[in-house]
Amino acid sequence: MEQSFIRDLASIVGSEYVLSDRESLACYGYDATPELESAPGAVVLPAHADELARIMARCHSAGVPVTARGSGTNLSGGSLGTPTGIVLQTSRMNRVIEIDKENLTISVEPGVITSAVHRAVEALDLFYPPDPGSMNISTIGGNVAENSGGLRGLKYGVTADYVMGLRTVLADGNLLATGGKAVKDVAGYNLRQLLVSSEGTLGIFAEVILKLIPKPAAKKTMLAHFPALEQAALAVSHIIAARIIPSTLEFMDRVTIKCVEEYAHVGLPLDVDAVLLIEVDGHAAQVGDDAAAIGEICRKEGCSLFQEATDPAMALQLATARRVALSALARVRPTTILEDATVPRSCIAPMVTFIQKTARKYDLTIGTFGHAGDGNLHPTCLTDERDRDEIARAHQAFAEIFAAALDMGGTITGEHGVGLAKKAYLPQLVGTTGLAVMGGIKKAFDPSGLLNPGKVF
Ligand code: LAC
Ligand code: ZN
Repeated sequence: MEQSFIRDLASIVGSEYVLSDRESLACYGYDATPELESAPGAVVLPAHADELARIMARCHSAGVPVTARGSGTNLSGGSLGTPTGIVLQTSRMNRVIEIDKENLTISVEPGVITSAVHRAVEALDLFYPPDPGSMNISTIGGNVAENSGGLRGLKYGVTADYVMGLRTVLADGNLLATGGKAVKDVAGYNLRQLLVSSEGTLGIFAEVILKLIPKPAAKKTMLAHFPALEQAALAVSHIIAARIIPSTLEFMDRVTIKCVEEYAHVGLPLDVDAVLLIEVDGHAAQVGDDAAAIGEICRKEGCSLFQEATDPAMALQLATARRVALSALARVRPTTILEDATVPRSCIAPMVTFIQKTARKYDLTIGTFGHAGDGNLHPTCLTDERDRDEIARAHQAFAEIFAAALDMGGTITGEHGVGLAKKAYLPQLVGTTGLAVMGGIKKAFDPSGLLNPGKVF
């Protein structure tokens, strides 16, 4: 990247906030996606919206691509820049601007860490439900750009359900304000929701207004052990059919349970095929009734042990067992390919069985965990990218897993986005008409194609 251009950027944010040395660029050449690597030409860290807009305007006039990055927990390669472009790192834009207790909203800059929002609002007895697995590291800007899900998605929905307003800097540096604190707003196209899950290809958020709800008064955490996978899947179906919507209904298979236990030593059973982590929240009386009914359903399906947390420390321990699944699986082999094939929830059992059969067919270790209540599974292949033969088999296996998910009426990505990793699968899912409409939207926002080039399409 030209030194004169680096100096231009430095004149906007200060020279200490433009990184262009080889070590820094190498560090920004990765996100959480395996096998992908692409160092940018420079990394720029604006302090506030005004600097962000000026950088974008400067890059626009110079024809330099821009990729936004929060904490780099992206699992589809979406936060990787290009050698001819800059990475726009949002971590200095990490202020909570306002918590509005009358309108029940929180306004934040994009670089605020997700769990910091949880802590800030829960101190006021308010609640921001979206809780992606990476919530202690990920940023709100990244969550909005990817429409991140999480463990509480079943009852409370995903990030999109909480985005009320966005101030977005467009490719040319202009600011687009969409939505706000008004609960209802049907003026014109819903550009706000279009920007949610746009994966950095339509604009970069300068401010996000999120909806809050009252914090549930009570919560119960349970862990059900099942000797057979089908029993756990049936328990999921029967809980929902009994008109109980837990906040969390999560699944781990035998491979995942073993890795988690070796990593976190939380006392998970090593002799069962599946565990379900179940949380219910709400009014104390309702929570008690729901927990009792869930216990009954699980026992009827053959659950060998039904643990109910007796205090907050035990609840945290049971929930942590699931939350650390990715970290636990990632320790076993050098390369971890984690996917998010998603099916209608009634297809959980056939899908997990198919994944296990495919792992055996290709002689691979694949652990599966995920959001059973949402039908959103994380088959995770433990491999080594230096073993080209095994990697080729892993890709073949995932191609079959995605095809099976589509056959079951599901999708190629339930939470982690298309980015680079799922690009090849998108046409199959949305068809030529879908691609043409998306392409037209991209052109309307970013005619020169400078925002996160090469991603999604
Ligand atoms: C999770 C991430 C990987 O559910 O989506 O933990
Ligand atoms: Zn997930």
